[in-house]
Amino acid sequence: MLTYKGRAVILIVFFFCTVLNLVIYNYMSRNNYDMFGRLTSRYIAAKRDLVNIKQSSVDSELTILKKRKYKLVDVPQLFTNTEDEYNAQIRKNTSNILKILWYNKPVWYRHNEEFCNRNMHRCFQSNCIVTYNRSLLKESDAIIFAGNIASFPRNVPLTSSERDPNQVWIFFDVEPAFRYFNLNFKRKEWKSSFNWTMTYRLDSDIPHPYGVLLTNDNPPEREYRAIFRTKKKFAAWIVSHCNAVSKRDDFVRLLQKYVPVDIFGHCGTKKCPKKNCRENVGKEYKFYLSFENSLCKDYITEKFFEYLPLDLITVLRGRSDYNHLLPNDTYINTADFSTIQDLANFMKSLAEDEDEYILYLKSKDRYVSKSLSWSYCNALCDICYKLNNLDKYRMSYNDIVTWLENKTCVRASDIK
Ligand SMILES: *[C@@H]1O[C@H](CO)[C@@H](O)[C@H](O)[C@H]1NC(C)=O
Ligand SMILES: *[C@@H]1O[C@H](CO)[C@@H](O)[C@H](O)[C@H]1NC(C)=O
Ligand SMILES: *[C@@H]1O[C@H](CO)[C@@H](O)[C@H](O)[C@H]1NC(C)=O
Ligand SMILES: *[C@@H]1O[C@H](CO)[C@@H](O)[C@H](O)[C@H]1NC(C)=O
Ligand SMILES: *[C@@H]1O[C@H](CO)[C@@H](O)[C@H](O)[C@H]1NC(C)=O
Repeated sequence: MLTYKGRAVILIVFFFCTVLNLVIYNYMSRNNYDMFGRLTSRYIAAKRDLVNIKQSSVDSELTILKKRKYKLVDVPQLFTNTEDEYNAQIRKNTSNILKILWYNKPVWYRHNEEFCNRNMHRCFQSNCIVTYNRSLLKESDAIIFAGNIASFPRNVPLTSSERDPNQVWIFFDVEPAFRYFNLNFKRKEWKSSFNWTMTYRLDSDIPHPYGVLLTNDNPPEREYRAIFRTKKKFAAWIVSHCNAVSKRDDFVRLLQKYVPVDIFGHCGTKKCPKKNCRENVGKEYKFYLSFENSLCKDYITEKFFEYLPLDLITVLRGRSDYNHLLPNDTYINTADFSTIQDLANFMKSLAEDEDEYILYLKSKDRYVSKSLSWSYCNALCDICYKLNNLDKYRMSYNDIVTWLENKTCVRASDIK
């Protein structure tokens, strides 16, 4: 007969074992293993589905590309919206992990950190990782070099005899080349070194625009008339980089001869409240000026995408072929007017025509905008997909400088 104490000990031990078991079981099943360490059938089925996803996503990517009317609308998304645990598991078991080395990632470039982590689990093609460890220089499958920062080296880090011909060198930047202060990329040592480009230009091998629009299949029903009627102010411009080469400051000064434009930020006189500056502008103003600092092909920076969800009409000025990039009922393009006065008159008529104005708000609601982080994540997944299909994407730029500078930027011609 056990003593009272002995029975209590057995009970306690039994209790702890049960709890421990539950914890282990829980852990195992979260990681797709059953209690005995075998893979669960749920996991095996998911893996089968994943293979199907990959194929169908590539197929649908091609179909979407063919159907697309605007280059920046409904760009195929190459990653899942949620952390895909099955991808992670499958990747762990893959011997074929491809390494993407960021040779000199700009410190200000932090868009990925939480959204698209280094392990790239969420890419449909999920067997790649991103590393910053230059010890892996030789063995990396791709190396990304940021063109315009001090750390872009004077010399190539691997000579052509050291370099594996299957290693892809990627030239990265999100700014036009004429503004670079580090001109090392022009040195002859770098000639014929790059295989792919990754820039805001849509003719890059890995296009990396500042944002995209995705069609919103369930646009909200909103009180557009009330929204319109609360707007008491005309146009706003928030700007901190004054006297940009695009001469946008001059353009705005000329526009101010005909219509009121409130200038916020470093280059203006209006002070924005510290918090929610943009949101307040969105409520009070009818128009927002989204004028680029440089007039370059496909150079359309984050402002259009950031202001799209706000209830105002964005006026764009740049050198982009906006009508082929974005639906023309979601913005006004200064280039569509022969004079600044014509533009001003159009804005005035729109500001007084509630029905016409509301049409723009409704059109904008048919899209959701995605920012630079989405684009960055998509670009990484694109790299991974192409590395896995390298034979289809072999390429080398004999002269990256010409590609970068090939008359992509122009001087302002709309200011008399
Ligand atoms: C992992 O890889 C090994 C060897 O290729 C294979 O036998 C095993 O079935 C794989 N496991 C999973 C979960 O895919
Ligand atoms: C970089 O990679 C090398 C070689 O794999 C490794 O020895 C080193 O610990 C890594 N460094 C860091 C900071 O991870
Ligand atoms: C957009 O373009 C279409 C066809 O080119 C034209 O009919 C329409 O009036 C334009 N809409 C706006 C708002 O400019
Ligand atoms: C990358 O470019 C180098 C240098 O031009 C070339 O030797 C190599 O074959 C290219 N590799 C790929 C995968 O395109
Ligand atoms: C320069 O641009 C023109 C058209 O804009 C294009 O046809 C040509 O191939 C480009 N050259 C290079 C080296 O990219």
